[in-house]
Formats: sequence, C-alpha cells, structure tokens
Amino acid sequence: MIGTSDLAAAAAAASVPQIELNDGNRIPQVGLGVLRIDDDDVAPVVETALAIGYRHIDGAAGYNNEGGLGRAFAESGFNTEQKRGKLWVTTKLRDSEQGYDSALEAFDRQIGLLQLDYVDMYMIHWPTPFDWRSADTWKAFVKLRDEGRVKTLGVCNFLPEHLERLHQETGEWPAVNQIELHPTWQQRDVVAFCKEHGIAVEAYSPMARGADLNAGDGVIAKIASAHNVSPAQVILRWHIENGTIIIPKSVHTERLKQNLDLFGFALTLEEHAAIDALDGPKRAGHDPRTFSYS
Ligand SMILES: NC(=O)c1ccc[n+]([C@@H]2O[C@H](COP(=O)([O-])OP(=O)(O)OC[C@H]3O[C@@H](n4cnc5c(N)ncnc54)[C@H](OP(=O)(O)O)[C@@H]3O)[C@@H](O)[C@H]2O)c1
Repeated sequence: MIGTSDLAAAAAAASVPQIELNDGNRIPQVGLGVLRIDDDDVAPVVETALAIGYRHIDGAAGYNNEGGLGRAFAESGFNTEQKRGKLWVTTKLRDSEQGYDSALEAFDRQIGLLQLDYVDMYMIHWPTPFDWRSADTWKAFVKLRDEGRVKTLGVCNFLPEHLERLHQETGEWPAVNQIELHPTWQQRDVVAFCKEHGIAVEAYSPMARGADLNAGDGVIAKIASAHNVSPAQVILRWHIENGTIIIPKSVHTERLKQNLDLFGFALTLEEHAAIDALDGPKRAGHDPRTFSYS
C-alpha cells in the first residue's frame, strides 16, 4: 500500500519503470493527467501526487492550469536544482498557436507560468490536418530543444498519415505519440505504426474517463476481484504490461495512490485476451482528422 512519507514516496517512485525514448531520454511510465482540474484546484492535487511518489505530470496550455502547476512545483521544491531532475513535466502547445513564431512566443509564456527553466516534453496537441502547420511548429520545437529548454519532442493524436507527413517535411519521427487508448478503443493500427517507427505510445483517457471500468459486462470487475485490486488497477496494469505510458487523472488521494500502485500483481495471458477482446468501434474523445482543441 502506498503511503505519503518521504521514504514511501521514494519507494513508489522507484517502482515505476522508465521507458527509454528514441532520443535517449527516459520517461516514467506512469504520470498524472491534469485535464479538467481548475487552475485554483490543481496545485493541491499535484502536491499530493508528488508526495505520494508521482514523478511525471502531463499538462497542456489548453487545460488553463499551468499557473497552478507552477505553484505546485515551487511549493514542493521540484523546481530547484536539487529536485528538478527527478520530475518529468510535459506540456502541450495550443492548436491556435501552431506556427514558428507563435509557438516560440507560446513557449515563453508557458514556461513562465510553470516556473521552470526547461520542460521534459513539449507536444503538438492536435494535428489539425485541415490547417496543417506542424512542420513550421516542429522547427520551433527543434530550436527549443537545441537551446536546452525542451528535452523531448512529441505529438498527440497523430494518425499514421500525420506522422508520415511530419517525417517527410522535417526528417524526424517524434519521440512520443499521445493518443486516446483504452480497452474499448485500442487503435491497434496506430500503435503498430508507432512501434515500427520507434515512437513510444502514451495512452490518454486510459480508462475512457472511467467508462471502461464497467466494460464487458463485468469482465474487468471479475479480473479485479481475482487479484484483490480495483477495476482501475486492472486496466492500468494491462496498459503497463503492453509497454504503454499512462497518465490517468484523479483528484482523489486514494485513487491517486491506487493508480500508482500497479506493480504488486500481474495479469495472466487469459486475462489479457479477455481485455483485448473488449476493443470496440467507438472512441470516447474526438477525431483527429476534424478536431481542433483550442
Ligand atoms: N492529448 C490529448 O488530446 C488528451 C485528451 C484527453 C486527455 N489527455 C490527458 O490524459 C489524462 C487522462 O485522461 P482523462 O482524464 O480523459 O481520463 P482517465 O484518466 O481515463 O479517467 C479519469 C476519470 O476516471 C476517474 N478515476 C481516476 N482514477 C480512478 C480510480 N482509481 N477508480 C475510479 N475512478 C477513477 C476520475 O475521477 P476523479 O478525478 O473524480 O477521481 C476521472 O473521472 C488527462 O488528464 C490529460 O492529461 C490528453
């Protein structure tokens, strides 16, 4: 059981595997997502998560809470030279700020709000293929990487056609593609393409925002009771064993603990097959071919 003493937090943090990326950087496989938490509310949640042992926070300009994240990093000392290297911070560029100059300006604002000298990963949030500016944006990202202000470059919601286009126009594959991925929406074609090209897959909405906890007419609940864990832990463990990076969101301390406590049990091949079989044709979020977030 995960506690909140410094020792317990260090042990919990050490239990989380690090995934090596195609640029040589290493990302903790479990992070905390902070979508739909207000700027005023996010700092205490992140401070609690850091005290429990989370060492990876997934934010975005579009979540309108980077100021709150910055306050949490300052309050917990994770922006100091001593502790900064122990924390992975991701943020994302707003779609409306894609483009070379606008991305550089946005980054200056974002890093100020975060009260950091660098971010571990900066991501293009949506490909917006109907208004494609990702190649120009990528040039700005490369400049930020060259300056040491960003360590790793990633994208979100890119389908193989968008990854191919970015590669053709920039000569680079991103290190990470963050996509909607959970038992009822497995996107196997996108995952296979990413694996083939050395791009790490990061699952957002890893529990379909909670909807998959009841998926398959009790399938998840049955596996959970067999291991004496919660349905959330079953789904998150399935992702972990698939090699996927996950960023579950919760504002509740007990759930934050559960969502990090994934390393004391293992799923059987039959249990994997049962969860694999839940794949379905309906996403919980938006279609990257047509959607723009902000
Ligand atoms: N790149 C993108 O376009 C994109 C899009 C969507 C999301 N994301 C990222 O992915 C993160 C996670 O996705 P998400 O927030 O959409 O969905 P999610 O993590 O699948 O689910 C979050 C929901 O599940 C509940 N929950 C969390 N832990 C639980 C547990 N142990 N037991 C029962 N319920 C639990 C949470 O409620 P409580 O908070 O009340 O506990 C919340 O309602 C986001 O925060 C964001 O960082 C990225």
